[in-house]
Amino acid sequence: MFKIQTLNNISVAGLNRLPREGYEIASEITHPDAILVRSAKMHERPVPDSLKAVGRAGAGVNNIPVEAMTDRGIAVFNAPGANANAVKELVLAGMLLAARNIAQGWQFARTLEGDDAAIGKAVEAGKKDFVGFELPGRTLGVIGLGAIGVLVANAARALGMKVIGYDPSITVRSAWKLEADVEAALSIDDLVSRSDFISFHVPLTDKTRHMINAERIQEMRDGAVLLNFSRNGIIDDDAAVTALDAGKLYAYVCDFPSNLLKAHPRVVTLPHLGASTREAEENCAVMVADQVRAYLEDGNVTNS
Ligand code: MLT
Repeated sequence: MFKIQTLNNISVAGLNRLPREGYEIASEITHPDAILVRSAKMHERPVPDSLKAVGRAGAGVNNIPVEAMTDRGIAVFNAPGANANAVKELVLAGMLLAARNIAQGWQFARTLEGDDAAIGKAVEAGKKDFVGFELPGRTLGVIGLGAIGVLVANAARALGMKVIGYDPSITVRSAWKLEADVEAALSIDDLVSRSDFISFHVPLTDKTRHMINAERIQEMRDGAVLLNFSRNGIIDDDAAVTALDAGKLYAYVCDFPSNLLKAHPRVVTLPHLGASTREAEENCAVMVADQVRAYLEDGNVTNS
């Protein structure tokens, strides 16, 4: 009997990949052989001696103490690419949100009171504050050319944007093998200085923490937009707020809640919705359930 503990809601589509016979699956379980987890932080949780595998139903593994698990011989699986389309779609939405002041316009519209004639007058007076700009011809810099970055790059090209790419850990040539339609930036500084939008698709590591800081922001084009649908910490948010206040940056859209950022009029914060589609949740759960099953039953490692 294999005992599987689920932390967070793991899609039923994934749980259905595990046979009914020979498996016990529950959120409260003693001596689990494997844990399936989405965003729950595992750093502070005790690690059961029985644990052989962890399946993270998502791409990032920063909620899991991977090194400590590996030292104990516990296999850690994730689901690279399984939610890439969902994240790409939200990044595109984020670009449009920023370029067209959609969140600010929507908030303004909600404050309007009176009859339709009064609202019409207020709209005529107020809408000049929300004049945006169009995407064709603008340059998107994509930092991180894994599954998500490549999809974002190609989608932006389809919208008529120029795309330049940089990845701190793989060469742009290998991204081309993934069919990314991007021009290689010479360095991160090269990308930063040439982009109207910068979108981050790298994990948060010691190498990527504050990769965008006050100095780099000064090198950006005036009116640039930051899109962080990866992890809080990649951008130095204090520096970003200073640059937004000074008008150096036009907008900042991020997919994580933040006390510092949430009230800023030029920032849109989202509650980590990038991977929150039915399809992505199913894809991720199926991918990690299959990996955990293969490992528990046959010792096969298909990704870890
Ligand atoms: C990811 O790393 O892919 C996301 O954090 C997934 C999620 O939102 O659960």
